[in-house]
Amino acid sequence: MNNFEFKNPTKIIFGKDTIKKLENEIPENAKVLFLYGGGSIKKNGIYEQVSNALSNVEVVEFGGIPANPEYDVLMDALKIIKEQHITYLLAVGGGSVIDGTKFLSAAAVYDGDTPWDILTKNIRTQKGMPFGTVLTLPATGSEMNSGAVITRASTKEKLTMGGPGLFPEFSILDPQVIRSIPERQLANGITDAFTHVLEQYMTYPIEATLQDRFAESILQTLIEVAPKVLKDPTDYKPAADFMWSCTMALNGLIQKGVPGDWAVHMMGHELTALFGIDHARTLAIVVPSHYKYNFEAKKAKLAQYGERVWNITEGSQDDKAYAAIEKTEAFFKQLGIATKLSDYTEKYEGTAEEISKRFTDRGWNGLGEHQDLSPDKVEKIVKMAY
Ligand code: NZQ
Ligand code: ZN
Repeated sequence: MNNFEFKNPTKIIFGKDTIKKLENEIPENAKVLFLYGGGSIKKNGIYEQVSNALSNVEVVEFGGIPANPEYDVLMDALKIIKEQHITYLLAVGGGSVIDGTKFLSAAAVYDGDTPWDILTKNIRTQKGMPFGTVLTLPATGSEMNSGAVITRASTKEKLTMGGPGLFPEFSILDPQVIRSIPERQLANGITDAFTHVLEQYMTYPIEATLQDRFAESILQTLIEVAPKVLKDPTDYKPAADFMWSCTMALNGLIQKGVPGDWAVHMMGHELTALFGIDHARTLAIVVPSHYKYNFEAKKAKLAQYGERVWNITEGSQDDKAYAAIEKTEAFFKQLGIATKLSDYTEKYEGTAEEISKRFTDRGWNGLGEHQDLSPDKVEKIVKMAY
């Protein structure tokens, strides 16, 4: 196991009817900017629950943060933060609203001229404007981590940011919120969380036995609850398992002491930036090709995953590893998620070259757990995913 330090300061308030507890978490005398997305919270009762819980504090609202939170929209919110002397941010939404809020938390205290530099220059935020979240969509883990991904449509870019000052102070996780989530987004959430675990697990053996078991148990839980959640999102028990699995998949715990890959996400983000494909779906497109291309380097963990998660007992290590990739792809397809780029766009020719060029321009010359995934390899993997 590698050496590590671990600190996660986010307070989790989990369970049925917990949104009302919001009123205990916002500091007295705060001036709150209540941030949300395209309006789903106004149809499913969450807006009302949040508004009731905020009745004793001064609140300004900002709705309309789109999926894949857009820089230009967030800049409008930043203006409000400055003009209205906001002191506390509250994100009510999925990963997009929470990530947008993290950007605002960082941008509110940033003293440079162009907040986009926070992303392009990888400026780490040590202390942002304080914020909390009410999660409405289990998927990203953003409710308990300090990372964010922001999109800029005008340049077709989607870049990551973060820093120790960008953990939510609290996150409220009421699994009942999944009742109103469309099937497509539920499938996305399962796929995203599943791939978060894979990114931190599918590397090489490092004798971190507990981390392996944590990762495998999250994968097994997601596989077990996926059909139940899709069949009946009003069923509280699988909803609770689903929600907590998504948070645990990316709150930093399973990444401690082990190598991480994350190349699937870096390639996937480009597919969203170029084609607008849902985040989770881009991961399902990249995963099979990435694991096939890097088969030799990853086969020990692939075979372990095949044995322990998919109960593959027959054949050599190579056989088990290969079967594990096939099982993973079949799982995504069972969720209704297509796994080829050509399933999403007819204009896929040239994509691999474009992504490879972007990585070269950004100096991303060695991604992955061995830092040896060069842009020419990225090009081959993306081509395999056509
Ligand atoms: O905008 P509203 O009206 O809220 O509708 C949303 C949106 O259309 C809807 N939705 C959310 N909760 C709902 C609901 N509809 C009905 N009932 C509810 N309870 O679902 C749609 C998608 O929402 P979004 O927030 O975009 O989804 P998700 O949580 O999957 O977030 C995706 C974003 O997170 C980033 C992705 O790149 C993408 O931009 N990620 C963030 C990460 C992080 N911060 O750690 C890690 C991830 O790998 C990921 O990259
Ligand atoms: Zn993800």
